[in-house]
Amino acid sequence: MNNIWIKKIKELKKGKNAIILAHYYQESEIQDIADFVGDSLALAQKAMDTKADIIVLAGVHFMAETAKILNPAKKVLLPAPDAGCSLADSCPADAFEDFVMAHPEYTVVSYVNTTAAVKALTDIVCTSSNALQIIESLPKDEKIIFAPDRNLGDYIKRLTNREMLIWNGACHVHEAFSLERILELKKQHPEAKILAHPECPKPVLIVADHIGSTAALLKFSQTDTAQTYIVATESGILHQMQKASPAKTFIPAPPNDSTCACNDCRYMKLVTLQKIYDCLENESPEIILDKDLCAKAEKSILRMMEISKKLKLI
Ligand code: 13P
Ligand code: SF4
Repeated sequence: MNNIWIKKIKELKKGKNAIILAHYYQESEIQDIADFVGDSLALAQKAMDTKADIIVLAGVHFMAETAKILNPAKKVLLPAPDAGCSLADSCPADAFEDFVMAHPEYTVVSYVNTTAAVKALTDIVCTSSNALQIIESLPKDEKIIFAPDRNLGDYIKRLTNREMLIWNGACHVHEAFSLERILELKKQHPEAKILAHPECPKPVLIVADHIGSTAALLKFSQTDTAQTYIVATESGILHQMQKASPAKTFIPAPPNDSTCACNDCRYMKLVTLQKIYDCLENESPEIILDKDLCAKAEKSILRMMEISKKLKLI
């Protein structure tokens, strides 16, 4: 059945000069059909540079919005229109605007996992790949608002010792990892290294051997000498880890819910091959954004791109 969708998608994609960009948290079959698979920073960069007429964003809403902001002349399609993000939802634009207004002397750094309206209130966007370097690029005495992820914010604050006001948001996937169950797994596999995304809470980060964005964790798993890893981020990333290092063992870190062995993002997993086909065929659902909002949000994303280029991060 999947093969039929794959064949049809490939034909449509060619006929319409479309490109499929997929996040590492997508189902394996979707990662395999994509023209490019990456973390949120790499997806934004690809979306900005592509010559395709149509961008299908196999990911969540804020990723498709970012693609549209960076390349407004292109048609950007989101196969699952209800693919939101609990982290983006934890920072509503009206409440955030009040917070920013109450602290006019602060520079606002927001994670890419935000709505366009929040990005429009932001000075510099960041992703988990460059958050540390973006904060470090600011003068030492600069007061910083960091939103919306409290775990990433706390982690960066611990590393940099900067004055940071951190928004109290979190991602339901990374918040739900069970330290107890991770340590239990470590007992069973004492040779395993623990890899963790910085959206995980502090107790999980403390026991991690390596902390990084999805792209950084993937790279580490390829270059490191260990043979077994316990991976504390959304389980979709295991597909690329296993593909790149077939002889190694990757174990998904378990969540608090003892009936689940791994942690899936319910939004990312809404995308299916059929939905990709349907959206390409119908050229819908399409991301449509207000032009003024786009222009404001674009500024803060381009500042991230500039800093990242200067620091040779992209
Ligand atoms: P990165 O893709 O930046 O690693 O972030 C993970 C994430 O939560 C995407 O939703
Ligand atoms: Fe949002 Fe978390 Fe899902 Fe990433 S994993 S899209 S941060 S809910």
